[in-house]
Amino acid sequence: MTQTRGRWPANPVLYEIYPRSFRDTTGSGEGDLAGVLQGLDHVASLGVDGIWLAPFYESPMVDGGYDITDHCAVDPRFGTLDDFDAIVERAHTLDLAVCIDLVFNHTSDRHPWFRKSIAGEDGYEDWYVWHDPKPDGSPPNNWISFFGEPAWTWNPVRRQYYLRQFLSCQPSLDLRHPAVQDAHEKIVQFWRDRGVDGFRFDAVTSYLFDNSMGDNPPASETVQARNATDESNPYSYQDHLNDMLPGDGAAFAERLRDWAGPDAWLIGEINSGNRSVELAAEFTAPDRLDAGYTVDLMVNEVTPHKVADLVARKEEHGCGLAFVLSCHDQPRGVSRAGDGSPRDAKLLALLSVALPGPLIVWQGEELGQKQANLPFEAIHDPFDRLFWPVHPGRDGARVPFPWQAREPGHGFTDGTPWLPMEGLAEVALDQQDADGPLAFWREALALRRKLDPQSEVEADGDLLHIRRGAHRIALNLGQDALPCDYGDPQLATAPLQEGTLPARTGVVWRD
Ligand code: NOJ
Repeated sequence: MTQTRGRWPANPVLYEIYPRSFRDTTGSGEGDLAGVLQGLDHVASLGVDGIWLAPFYESPMVDGGYDITDHCAVDPRFGTLDDFDAIVERAHTLDLAVCIDLVFNHTSDRHPWFRKSIAGEDGYEDWYVWHDPKPDGSPPNNWISFFGEPAWTWNPVRRQYYLRQFLSCQPSLDLRHPAVQDAHEKIVQFWRDRGVDGFRFDAVTSYLFDNSMGDNPPASETVQARNATDESNPYSYQDHLNDMLPGDGAAFAERLRDWAGPDAWLIGEINSGNRSVELAAEFTAPDRLDAGYTVDLMVNEVTPHKVADLVARKEEHGCGLAFVLSCHDQPRGVSRAGDGSPRDAKLLALLSVALPGPLIVWQGEELGQKQANLPFEAIHDPFDRLFWPVHPGRDGARVPFPWQAREPGHGFTDGTPWLPMEGLAEVALDQQDADGPLAFWREALALRRKLDPQSEVEADGDLLHIRRGAHRIALNLGQDALPCDYGDPQLATAPLQEGTLPARTGVVWRD
């Protein structure tokens, strides 16, 4: 859907804030909500429409806060509900809408609901997905968790397996259970009453699955090629037909819309590589979510063909696909789809604003912050540790935001940062100059407001052409200069030579 909702314009730009890595006001080495409040002026200065605040709920933080023990409480390490209220108030004063993460697919295994479910306490027995073993003791089917391990964990008290699509400490809830739905509706209401304008539904494509629990078939070559993970993760060896349900799985989004109301802007994390756009289309049908984002532009290279193909699939399926080049789950775009240089940071910024749909900007992207190569000992993320040294790293993308060049805490903390902050001095906020990524992002986001919603996107070798009404954008994603006719340039990512578009350069002009 491309309509406006409440404080949100159609196709908004959201700035993702990962509170643990944004700004620390206590010297603990971890960011907090008071730090988010302090940083909002910077966010507003970019010209984005809202923030997406990653989890700050009560949590043992095994999976960075996506393992929740109370969805309506702020974890003391992040502050208090009063701190949260102050963020909403300040954001609204700055004309920023507030979207928060809701993790409804699973909880922490320390959540009182799970404890009660294990104990078979009245009414809670079936809140999670429990299943008897096969007669030989093995799990009910061949499903694999996103993190590469079997999707079933044995519980000796119940003598049953429970489903967990992520870590074993993240048991999956049974979203078909009416009491679970009631609990979730109350959570949505709780945050709406505190002034929240939108929600990002974590792992929304995993909520429902085929209750007959059939095995997933092996992935065909085509499916594997489009999968969200690479072959280092056995998850990519399956076609996720039975554990990610379209049909009534996507229709569940109507319930989310009912709970949140017509003024809330809703986005879902579409977690399947092989049918990403098709699933996003189902989840964003009328009366469902406004947008879904996929990993299509967050894994591997970004080529003109890949971008044009993604936009064509989006248009073919008429879906509310949001564009994301970097987030807290994937290696930073400037290092993965670029060489880490300010030149490539600006090129990717122009590509981002030129794409026809909602956009998410990951904190630090506006500075050209690179992916950090962390040593194993520095890594907290269990997924990174499981896949070491093959996976390029989620924690490497979560290195805190460098507010100042000053070592060692870079204005992020007066203590010891929870992840090492090395090599950040040159991209720090106070080092950005008129030619740097930050100034370019501001200009690019201002330009984005003027672009026509209609788009034509075409790949021509290393060149990507995007027409947005009278505006034309050409991007040379290759390593050689290419002939390109453009009119009077309105914005360019690097110095131009007439009739030629230098390597890794983009330009905007009007017809
Ligand atoms: C997606 C989140 O973005 C990621 O960080 C988390 O590990 C999984 N969902 C599980 O909640």
